[in-house]
Amino acid sequence: MGNYFGMQTSTTAMAITVKDLRKRYGDVEAVRGISFRVTEGECFGLLGPNGAGKSTTIRLICGLSEITDGHIEVFGVTAYPGNRELKRRIGVVSQDDNLDPDLTVRQNLELHGMFYGLTSATARARTQELLQWMQLDSKLAEQVRALSGGMRRRLVIARALVSRPRLLVLDEPTTGLDPQARHLVWAKIRELKTRGVTILLTTHYMEEAERLADRLLVIDHGLILEQGTPNDLIERVAGRECLECQATEDETAPLIEAASPLPSIRIESRHDGLVAFGPDLDGMLDLWDRAGIRPASYYRRRTSLEDVFLRLTGRELRE
Ligand SMILES: Nc1ncnc2c1ncn2[C@@H]1O[C@H](COP(=O)(O)OP(=O)(O)OP(=O)(O)O)[C@@H](O)[C@H]1O
Ligand SMILES: [Mg+2]
Repeated sequence: MGNYFGMQTSTTAMAITVKDLRKRYGDVEAVRGISFRVTEGECFGLLGPNGAGKSTTIRLICGLSEITDGHIEVFGVTAYPGNRELKRRIGVVSQDDNLDPDLTVRQNLELHGMFYGLTSATARARTQELLQWMQLDSKLAEQVRALSGGMRRRLVIARALVSRPRLLVLDEPTTGLDPQARHLVWAKIRELKTRGVTILLTTHYMEEAERLADRLLVIDHGLILEQGTPNDLIERVAGRECLECQATEDETAPLIEAASPLPSIRIESRHDGLVAFGPDLDGMLDLWDRAGIRPASYYRRRTSLEDVFLRLTGRELRE
């Protein structure tokens, strides 16, 4: 990976501009008018429940699907299916891996490189380099069908980099990976970032989003719900701290009542107790003490992106 992208840019360019994007599949409007921008070198995360429209948005950005309405530019190039200029700029790791199971690991990458117009010598050299980088070099001659799920995922990421794209798009890159492989992929994503690669990421792992993304967009039902840095969202949407306690309805009512003078505290009733959120919960505990109703046991913790996600998108299961 030594000279991967010798293209450090001095001025910050716009990597992705999405404007009033819509996508309809028959009766289903999967994306219902969303706009956002990603600057060059950023790691931008797209979050949302199943069916929110993340993969659809990604496919439109990558020119893998026809836009119904709106406009997308990637490094100044308009996105539409068949645009070769667009394709040259983007490496895609799609949600379902589309490796050729009958080819070897090496062949999958080399053919991909040649498909992108590399000479066979260059494709071969980059394949070697990338397989080593992803710790897959011992599998070079194996058929893809013989690889584990985690290895296949790493291979798809390596493949997306053969063309040395300026933008790497990762649709759930670590789904199904064990912790070791996930940490390896995280390290690799960070390394790419330091090399100036722009990254667009979707994930259902909030820890992953919190660790990797500079900025996040939360979408649901094809619409934007919120955007910001992970820290900003945690503070603004969830509140910094959380206290959970199990209690009966008779016990929770006075607890909620006693906390009501504190405007910064938000309390959610659950069937088996309550959860309180706020910037600082000491005041609430004081009020409970004064009323003599501190719960027998409770769990106090810092909030996370998971709290943000659940607050924005609800707790109902999706199809
Ligand atoms: N090719 C298609 N034909 C018809 N409907 C589609 C198609 N692709 C997606 N949809 C629908 O569009 C909506 C958004 O799907 P999309 O795959 O973008 O969601 P997602 O956010 O990626 O979800 P997940 O987290 O499950 O991957 C869903 O209602 C889905 O059923
Ligand atoms: Mg998806």
